[in-house]
Amino acid sequence: MSSLSGKVALITGAGGMKGVGRAVALKLASQGADIVLTDVRRPSGNLPAQEIKAGWKSIESVAREVELLGRKCLPVWCDLLVGEQIQSLIQQAATHFGHLDILVNNARAIMGEERVPITELAEEVWQRFLAINTTAAFLTIKYAGQIMIKQGTGGRIVNVASEASKRGRPRMAAYVSSKFALIGLAQCAALELAPHRITVNSVCPGSINSDRFNYGEAADAAARGMTIEQVRAEYIASVARNVPLGRIAESEDVANLVAFLASDEANFITGQAYNINGGTTFH
Ligand SMILES: NC(=O)c1ccc[n+]([C@@H]2O[C@H](COP(=O)([O-])OP(=O)(O)OC[C@H]3O[C@@H](n4cnc5c(N)ncnc54)[C@H](O)[C@@H]3O)[C@@H](O)[C@H]2O)c1
Repeated sequence: MSSLSGKVALITGAGGMKGVGRAVALKLASQGADIVLTDVRRPSGNLPAQEIKAGWKSIESVAREVELLGRKCLPVWCDLLVGEQIQSLIQQAATHFGHLDILVNNARAIMGEERVPITELAEEVWQRFLAINTTAAFLTIKYAGQIMIKQGTGGRIVNVASEASKRGRPRMAAYVSSKFALIGLAQCAALELAPHRITVNSVCPGSINSDRFNYGEAADAAARGMTIEQVRAEYIASVARNVPLGRIAESEDVANLVAFLASDEANFITGQAYNINGGTTFH
């Protein structure tokens, strides 16, 4: 019997073709979990070019992959900016499968528009980063926590945070603040949910080769007469030069850590924030 057999896992931000969410979904499914996938419907203008070329259909494509692994899958479109949609998402997940055991908060606001000094940062951009990266995680934990407590069988919650959850950087105030807050949220939830054997942990990746769309890279490519792929390749090479283990992370590296924290073996770990960055930072 696989280690997650009989469990149901919900993963946000799960539609990217090379994203962490998809990697987590496939890893948990390969270990026996049935899967609820969610993402927002995005206009083609802010999708990675590779996804458009491949005819990638976000969570619908990932759902087919999960089913090919022999697991059941429920894809649910949900805009994490809308609290009512989040509540309905969690209810649909629990009703469809009859229970909910694992929650992975992986979605984040599309990057790029926040890369300005605080003195130039639009309030709307700040609010959007806090809403998608932090408030949505609060709401999924709130509603999934209620269900897990009622079930009485424990649970696992993992937030995908970032290196940016532990160290500030210039021109990243909205992202960094939203990701610092995720760690605080996880610590509070861990203490409150511990009596119910529900663990809450965070993972803190360094740069990942997730091929995510980034408004900043798109603008850079246009300004330099390059493709977004060429700009990405330059970025990946420059990251690798500064990582002691000599490469950028792949989404699967992060998924492996999430899967461990979601497993029964991790039952005595809660409130922690684990780095996964090839050795770039230690705290
Ligand atoms: N990529 C990196 O270099 C990196 C580094 C450190 C941490 N992380 C973290 O890892 C996680 C995954 O990163 P990634 O690069 O795979 O993700 P990504 O940037 O591709 O975005 C994740 C998903 O969030 C979804 N999303 C955006 N707005 C949404 C909304 N309003 N409602 C619902 N979903 C929405 C996107 O559609 C996307 O599928 C994120 O939490 C990110 O902060 C990434």
